[in-house]
Amino acid sequence: MRQIGIGVIGTGFMGKAHAFAYRAVSGIFPGTRPELQIVADVNGAAAERAATQLGFPRYTDNWQDLVADPAIGIVSITTPNIFHREMALAAIAAGKHIHCEKPLAPSTAEARDMMEAAEAAGVVTQVGYNYIKNPLLGLAREMITSGELGEITGFRGIHAEDYMANPDEPYSWRVDPTGGQAPLLISAVTLSAWHVFSLVPLTRSLPISKPLLRADPLLPEPASDARSRSTILPA
Ligand SMILES: NC(=O)c1ccc[n+]([C@@H]2O[C@H](COP(=O)([O-])OP(=O)(O)OC[C@H]3O[C@@H](n4cnc5c(N)ncnc54)[C@H](O)[C@@H]3O)[C@@H](O)[C@H]2O)c1
Repeated sequence: MRQIGIGVIGTGFMGKAHAFAYRAVSGIFPGTRPELQIVADVNGAAAERAATQLGFPRYTDNWQDLVADPAIGIVSITTPNIFHREMALAAIAAGKHIHCEKPLAPSTAEARDMMEAAEAAGVVTQVGYNYIKNPLLGLAREMITSGELGEITGFRGIHAEDYMANPDEPYSWRVDPTGGQAPLLISAVTLSAWHVFSLVPLTRSLPISKPLLRADPLLPEPASDARSRSTILPA
C-alpha cells in the first residue's frame, strides 16, 4: 500500500471536506492510502479542534511549517482565494503536490504564476472543481464525441444555490471585493457559477463560439469558426 502524507491548510467548510475525502480514498482506490498528517489554520484553536475532530496527529497556526514538513507529500489549500497563490508557490518550491480550491486565484496573472511554477517543478496539481471527474460527465463526453447525440448546437448550464440568499448571512471574505473574489465575481450569486464553468471542457472537442460569460482564466480562447454555441449562464 502506497502512503502519502497530507497537509490541509484551512479548517472551514472545504478543509473538512478535503479531510473527509482523503480518508475515503483507499476504500475506493486500493493501493494508495493518504495519511492525514498536519492541519493548519491561522486560528490556532480552530486548527487544534480540527486535528481532534478530523484525525490529524499534528496541527499548527503557521501554514509555512506545514508546507516545509518532510512528512507532507500533498498540500491541500482550502483558505480564502487571496492566499492561494502565496501558499501554492511555497508548497511547489518545497516540492509538494497541490490540491488547491477553486477559484485558483483572484486574477489570471496569479493563476498563471501558479500554473507555470507547478509545471516547471513537475508537481501534480488538482483544482477543486467538484464535477469534472464525475462519471456522469464522462458518459456525457462519450455520448457527445461518439456522435450519439448528433450535432451539438448549444450548451446551457445553470448552477442554482441559494445558500447566501439570506440577508442575515454574516459578512465574510466571500462578499468582500478585496477578500478573494475575482473581478468577475461581483456578487455572492455568481460565486456558484464557477461550477458551471468547470463543465465547459466537456465541450472542448466541439467548436465553441463566444460564451455568454467567460470566467475561467485558463480556458482556451473560443474558436473563431464556431458552428455551435457554448452559452454559460450563471444561476
Ligand atoms: N469546491 C467547492 O465546491 C467549494 C465550495 C466552497 C468553497 N470553495 C473554496 O474553498 C476555499 C475555502 O472556502 P471555505 O468555504 O472552506 O471557507 P471558510 O471561510 O469556511 O474556511 C476558510 C478557512 O481558512 C482559514 N484561513 C484564513 N486565512 C488563513 C491563513 N492565512 N492561514 C491559514 N488558514 C487561514 C480560516 O480560518 C478558515 O478556517 C475558497 O477558495 C472557496 O472558494 C470551494
